[in-house]
Amino acid sequence: MIYQKLLDFPENFLWGASTSAYQVEGGWDADGKSPSIIDMYEHPAGYADFTVASDHYHRYKEDIALFARMGLKAYRFSIAWTRILPRGTGEVNQAGVEHYRDVIRTCKQYGIEPVVTMYHFDLPWCLEQQGGWTSRATIDAFEAYARVLFAEFGSDVKYWLTINEQNTMILHPGAIGLPKGGVLPDRKTLYQMNHHLMLAQARVMKLCHALCPQAKIGPALNLTAMYPVTCRPEDAIAAHNWEVLRCWNFADVPVFGWYHPLAVRYLEDRGLMPDILPGDCETLAGANPDFIAMNYYSTATIAASHGDASDVSARAGDQQIMLGEQGVYRAAENPYVGKTKYGWVIDPTGFRYTLRKVCERYHLPILITENGIGAPDVLEADDRIHDDYRIEFYKQHLHALREAITDGVQMLGYCPWSALDVVSTHQGYAKRYGFIYVDRGEEEGASLRRIPKDSFAWYKQVIAENGKNL
Ligand code: BG6
Repeated sequence: MIYQKLLDFPENFLWGASTSAYQVEGGWDADGKSPSIIDMYEHPAGYADFTVASDHYHRYKEDIALFARMGLKAYRFSIAWTRILPRGTGEVNQAGVEHYRDVIRTCKQYGIEPVVTMYHFDLPWCLEQQGGWTSRATIDAFEAYARVLFAEFGSDVKYWLTINEQNTMILHPGAIGLPKGGVLPDRKTLYQMNHHLMLAQARVMKLCHALCPQAKIGPALNLTAMYPVTCRPEDAIAAHNWEVLRCWNFADVPVFGWYHPLAVRYLEDRGLMPDILPGDCETLAGANPDFIAMNYYSTATIAASHGDASDVSARAGDQQIMLGEQGVYRAAENPYVGKTKYGWVIDPTGFRYTLRKVCERYHLPILITENGIGAPDVLEADDRIHDDYRIEFYKQHLHALREAITDGVQMLGYCPWSALDVVSTHQGYAKRYGFIYVDRGEEEGASLRRIPKDSFAWYKQVIAENGKNL
């Protein structure tokens, strides 16, 4: 659709930016925090680990002051479960509670809306040792953790995100790190874990509505539209297969209370269907998220499966993400999109397309909780970072977002990844996302000084003009 006039961004649009606890905080064992699975995983050699990261745990006041200088209206961050409940459940660590209370208070002093992720990949290690998400006890533990969060912060936090990228955790478990020894759960186990995560999420959404009726809560998923590589009907079927299995199956459960019918048939056919106990269907029903939180980076282009092992290939530049599945789909190239230095597809129009699909499917407002470009930013001799590629990326994606708003998609806000440089999941500080540069490399010992990048000034202007002059 080409419009005569694009609609403006809404007046109260949440212009924000995002981080996650383990990627930015450091202080990995400070003030009573216990290790999470991330702390205990194998770490890629030669890259920064998560022990100090960007030291946000100790520098959050300085960082939030910088966010305010940039004009942010929202800050999406995650709470480390291991700071609140070092044993995974049971006794509350007051130091952890006080830390996040002050993070929230500091945001509010600057008029920044805290958007809180409850769980961003960092399950307490002690729970993992007892079976982690394969155990139903972890569902109870997550609910107990959420109860503490709602009791302590419920009156100050309006936007809650349950679980970050459950679909990444289940479909690409190696993407968040490898357990020591490198053995990942098999697929049947992963779908059982997925079911338990779904139950935990549904219970927590219901709890939120009961305890904090003024708050809004939603799942945070990595959503992406798929293109068939040609108009051959088999390619279209394959694209739909993967769109359902990668995206809609994960969003349908919280919204509609049950798995997507195609996914059910796939799971049954492949012997992957999880054990569903009496009462589970009732638990999943009626969780009623208030919005969908969406992380968007790329689209994918899909061809029909050849039906053999050649369907599976590593995503360009990323050995941790395997794409393709025998009899389901295979990954194809798209000549009409760009790519980052790390091989990730750049597709602003695909952003608009994905937003339209999410809107059409769920009829819920959407909050963008991640979007961004990873790049090897360079601190120049003039003490500046000229990240014009990032500005261009955001310009195009915000234009597409405005087109989506004009298409009728109801948007709550835009919190790109990331507010400041964080440790990337596999490439340390070699690959950066922030509006604010953190002076450090892969080794510890650098100054950790904060330096606004060129994109900082650009985003500040965009926010000040409410996106009118992109
Ligand atoms: C998202 C995750 O999938 O991608 C973030 O929620 C992550 O935690 C981001 O950092 C970018 O991925 P990467 O691998 O470049 O750090």
